[in-house]
Amino acid sequence: MILPKILLATISYSSFTNSFTVVPKISTASISRHNNNVLFSTDEATETATDQPGTAKMDKPWGELGFEYRETKSHLKMVFRDGKWGEPELVQDPYVKIHIGATALHYGQSAFEGLKAYAHADNSVHIFRPDENAKRLQSSCDRIMMAPLPIENFLKACNQIVKDNIAYVPPYGSGGSLYLRPLLFGSGPRIGLQPSDEYTFLVITIPVGGYYNAGLVPVNAIITEDYDRAAPNGVGHVKVAGNYAADLLPSSINKNSGYQVSLYLDAKTQSYIEEFSTSNFAGINYKTKTYVTPNSSSVLPSVTNKCLMTIMEKEFGYKVEQRPIRLDELDDFDEVLAIGTAVVVTPIGSITHGDKVYTFCDPKDCEVGEITTKIYDRVREIQNGDGEDPYGWNFKVQ
Ligand code: COI
Repeated sequence: MILPKILLATISYSSFTNSFTVVPKISTASISRHNNNVLFSTDEATETATDQPGTAKMDKPWGELGFEYRETKSHLKMVFRDGKWGEPELVQDPYVKIHIGATALHYGQSAFEGLKAYAHADNSVHIFRPDENAKRLQSSCDRIMMAPLPIENFLKACNQIVKDNIAYVPPYGSGGSLYLRPLLFGSGPRIGLQPSDEYTFLVITIPVGGYYNAGLVPVNAIITEDYDRAAPNGVGHVKVAGNYAADLLPSSINKNSGYQVSLYLDAKTQSYIEEFSTSNFAGINYKTKTYVTPNSSSVLPSVTNKCLMTIMEKEFGYKVEQRPIRLDELDDFDEVLAIGTAVVVTPIGSITHGDKVYTFCDPKDCEVGEITTKIYDRVREIQNGDGEDPYGWNFKVQ
């Protein structure tokens, strides 16, 4: 097996300018990208997993989990201090002691990621595309001036925390997964507005099922008119904590009006589709055989959407268009999807905008569209290890 090289970054920090210099370099770490490969070779693995997926004691059957917080065995912690990242620690305590002056608390200097690990039929566990989350976290760090975590450290951290919590990985066939939530935030004190000189990286794990519903069930969306999610040239393209705080009020208003999902338009003109509160937007047009998704600079690049674009183009023969989508183009779509790690592929039954309702199924008997079903099945098949993974998206935990 040929093990590819991976991009790493060394970081030097200058306390004088409060800036980080990121120097990419090539490492030969044995990180795999192909079907039967492993995240780290055994000599690099710090512990051997003894438990098996699905053996933790739970308050509910594995197949009935939703997307809610549950405590697991441990979280992983790493601290950046004096210009370098320290060693990872596994901590069996869900509380974090944090400095009262931490920039995360005062100025929102904080970013996070979301990715999932799945049990395969042979009880092996695989993390889905962690390399993409590692890169996206680095871009969030760059935007809000935090110390970026080298990709290899991110991958090792994910491997280590899943291994320690392997009993909490929902068993193969349950439909669930172990959600990994990495967080990176300024933990050092500042009171003037400037970046921290200390950063903390944590990864927590939570066994989860469906976000909105279990499986493929259409949800109704509404366009948020009175609030914006992200400004042009702002921080919408990175996964910083504040983007989600800004969505809490509009989403709560919309949920109270009976809409599970909120859709945002571009802040400047209110005439282009941006993204859902939790996930990316895509529309499918049967006649032109196109999969259309916004390419706005204020939309978060979703890892799941990247997968869908690849599969639509390479396997389903669809044309993929990443471009601005005018609001009135909603009339042209036969199917609309919300796409993200947590929501996976969620079919949108309707989108309400003021008095107008765009429907993507028969409101009396809303069936999931044919392409949505096909793409959902294909992605889940790869994640569950039931079908070929020609792209090397599964990283085996070892
Ligand atoms: C994810 O999809 O992983 C997210 O972080 C979105 C969040 C709203 C649950």
